[in-house]
Amino acid sequence: MWKNIQPAPPDSILGLTEQFKKDQNPQKVNLGVGVYKDDDGNTPILEAVKKAEQVLLASQTTKSYLPISGDPAYAKAVQKLVLGENSDPFQSSRAVTVHAPGGTGALKVGADLLKKFAPQAKVWVSSPTWANHNGIFSDAGFELDSYSYYNPESKGLDFDRMIGELAAIPSGDIVILHTCCHNPSGVDLDQAQWDEVVRVAKQQGWIPFLDFAYQGFGEGVEEDRYAVEQFGAAGIDFLVASSFSKNFGLYNERTGALTVICPSAEEAAVAMSHLKTVVRTNYSNPPAHGGLVATIILDDSQLYQQWLAELADMRVRIKDMRHALVQGLNACGVPGDFSFIERQRGMFSFSGLSDDVVRWLRAEKNIYVVGGGRINLAGLTTKNIDYVCQSIAEAVQAVA
Ligand code: LMR
Repeated sequence: MWKNIQPAPPDSILGLTEQFKKDQNPQKVNLGVGVYKDDDGNTPILEAVKKAEQVLLASQTTKSYLPISGDPAYAKAVQKLVLGENSDPFQSSRAVTVHAPGGTGALKVGADLLKKFAPQAKVWVSSPTWANHNGIFSDAGFELDSYSYYNPESKGLDFDRMIGELAAIPSGDIVILHTCCHNPSGVDLDQAQWDEVVRVAKQQGWIPFLDFAYQGFGEGVEEDRYAVEQFGAAGIDFLVASSFSKNFGLYNERTGALTVICPSAEEAAVAMSHLKTVVRTNYSNPPAHGGLVATIILDDSQLYQQWLAELADMRVRIKDMRHALVQGLNACGVPGDFSFIERQRGMFSFSGLSDDVVRWLRAEKNIYVVGGGRINLAGLTTKNIDYVCQSIAEAVQAVA
């Protein structure tokens, strides 16, 4: 069967990690995949997670199936965190949540759900966007288009063009928005800009689908959900794909959620009935461990505080690395103004490095950067930052 079939290209992000693992050079640096690393280059298990796992180990009595939509306690904990406990969707029970395998799984469940009821809709993604958005929504059968977002000249947001284009998207189309810590650019909207986007969504009647994979990596868990709160207050239909991969470090436990918010509790119940059919035909019911761990932490005030502190440590370390990178590039004489790196938020920076520089860094210096120049700041440490900055200086000269 496979004799005459061309192999698929490696994944632009996870394929890089495969290459990195095979690399024998001890100086290698992975600035590719969005995984947090501490200053020793390790991806630690959070202390709050370890404690919750101990609680779980001592108290768990069964490995029987979870319900199709996951544990109801998990859904409630997710809604409190993602929507806000005082939000109208939470208070009025007009949001429903399924536990999905990671943020990617949540996007896929949402895509399949929308394809059933909005088969003709076009899906709009930001330019640029996370590469997998294109794959997920086109594999679900949607036609894709993009709206302006990043301005390579200002290295910031092209808000005027963005809002102009969003205001021309017709009713019923689906618009993917990055709630915070835009992937890949690190460029976010401010609150006034979000207010404007919510107003346009309501006026046009398109369906916002928020990708919320980095809650807590921007300014804090509450600050980062501003857009979700505003869409929630608008009383419109929208969806949120959220993830505990990054903020709980539960990457390989595949712990995410899809929350569908509707104008009324009755409509939300209808949405849930269909969500269950999508989950049942895809993977039947979710894996339990990560969700149980997250629920224990979110429902325990001490563990919750500990988690917030650990999350703040990750956020601050990344900000420190942004600063160190700007200083280092300047010190090495790399031409250009890199101050924009400190204005961006979250794990990533659109560094402005060309694809030629990216290829040179990989071939000559064993430094792995995603095509397009996206750098994972969390891959930088106080030990490798000088090597990275010096290598970038050499690369820029070599490909000039
Ligand atoms: C990333 O963008 O690097 C992460 O979201 C990991 C992934 O699945 O691509």
